[in-house]
Amino acid sequence: MTVVPAALDNDSCDTAIRASFLHFLADPDNTGDAYQYLEDGLLILKQGRVQQLVNALDCIDHLPDGSALYDYSGSLVMPGFIDTHAHYPQTEMIASYGLQLLDWLKQYTFPTEEKFCERGYADRIAEFYCEQMLRNGTTTSAVFATVHPQSVDAIFEAARRRDMCLVAGKVMMDRNAPASLCDDPQQSYRQSVELIQRWHLRGRLHYAVTPRFAPCCSPEQLEICGRLLAEHPDLYLQSHAAENVDEVRWVAELFADSRSYLDVYDRFGLLGPRALYAHCIHLDETDRERMAESGAAMAFCPTSNLFLGSGLFSLDSAGRHGIRVGLATDVGAGTSFSQLQTLNEAYKVCQLAGHSLTPLKAFHLATLGAAESLYLDHRIGNFAVGKEADFVVLDLQATELMKLRMQDTQSIEEKLFALMMLGDDRCVQATHVMGQRQYQQGRS
Ligand code: GUN
Ligand code: ZN
Repeated sequence: MTVVPAALDNDSCDTAIRASFLHFLADPDNTGDAYQYLEDGLLILKQGRVQQLVNALDCIDHLPDGSALYDYSGSLVMPGFIDTHAHYPQTEMIASYGLQLLDWLKQYTFPTEEKFCERGYADRIAEFYCEQMLRNGTTTSAVFATVHPQSVDAIFEAARRRDMCLVAGKVMMDRNAPASLCDDPQQSYRQSVELIQRWHLRGRLHYAVTPRFAPCCSPEQLEICGRLLAEHPDLYLQSHAAENVDEVRWVAELFADSRSYLDVYDRFGLLGPRALYAHCIHLDETDRERMAESGAAMAFCPTSNLFLGSGLFSLDSAGRHGIRVGLATDVGAGTSFSQLQTLNEAYKVCQLAGHSLTPLKAFHLATLGAAESLYLDHRIGNFAVGKEADFVVLDLQATELMKLRMQDTQSIEEKLFALMMLGDDRCVQATHVMGQRQYQQGRS
């Protein structure tokens, strides 16, 4: 694609970034011309938003006086990674041994989440979580807090300080969990409304109604979720669906009238645009058709699904149904904050399911595809004019092994594949949020 650069002056440029650039314009599984790659590019920003992406040689000598230049020549800049599902309170229990979902929740998750009744503790973990995101090139995530409203304040505060785009909400749960972690539908409603008023659409922050999952929610609690969405139509909804076979069986007992696990949520009005469901492994064709027609999105959590032995997500059938899918770490059932490592496992999950995940599709899942899942693709996910300039600077030669492997690569596809299979936070040289450098490797 030939881009004719527009004239640069102080009204159109305060910051420029020189590097190789890769970003997506469409889903590479659906169209041949889905991405733009510039070997020596210049990203022109004004007040944290993209003005142009051009060939560096056409413009580098015409930057207005006083504009900042970040020279990352030799590195690859991509839109900041987007994590469509994670639990910040589970950061310190990541990699807890030996159990599948329901026992893992009881033994590790619930005791850890109880600690978030204390605001100071929540602040410390929220800070740590945001630092880990940036260290891994992730600039947006959709996160669960805990049942405690102060845990929501903590993560929104930590994200706001870094100007990060974040979707988060108070977990709603009123049964099948320790009493200390249960609310009741009225309290849940009151606390959620207060949090919505405090945080929703404040800067880059978005509130998500967050019922933990059907087994922890009474029908009254799910009704309250539907009411919150009806009263505030631009909210998100995030939950879990059809992750584990024992869980699916349990839901069938608890909600005997429902046709399927997904149908439980559907009956309470919880499917639709900006509804995000993690896992979605054990679904049938009718469920997938409902996901597609409702506009709800699936969060593909490969490291978590392998770690808990939950099963293999079918990216292929989601694609065939035209369902929105975003990549997700699902920390702390997921075992890495790195979207590169998450793509490594995603590739293997697809291999086991009999389909190859191409490197282009993989990075689309972590950037524009994830932005589309969150209905935020008008603001983030690529470098189209006017987008908010969140990006990651990647060193493809970060390790000795990567240096050796990269020597043998020709195309950008080959390089991306080696990056996602061998890369991790060692490759993240810097992470920028709204144009500002918020993380630089080697600096605290
Ligand atoms: N289902 C309900 N709660 C959780 C959770 O915290 N993690 C995962 N992976 N699945 C869940
Ligand atoms: Zn989860």
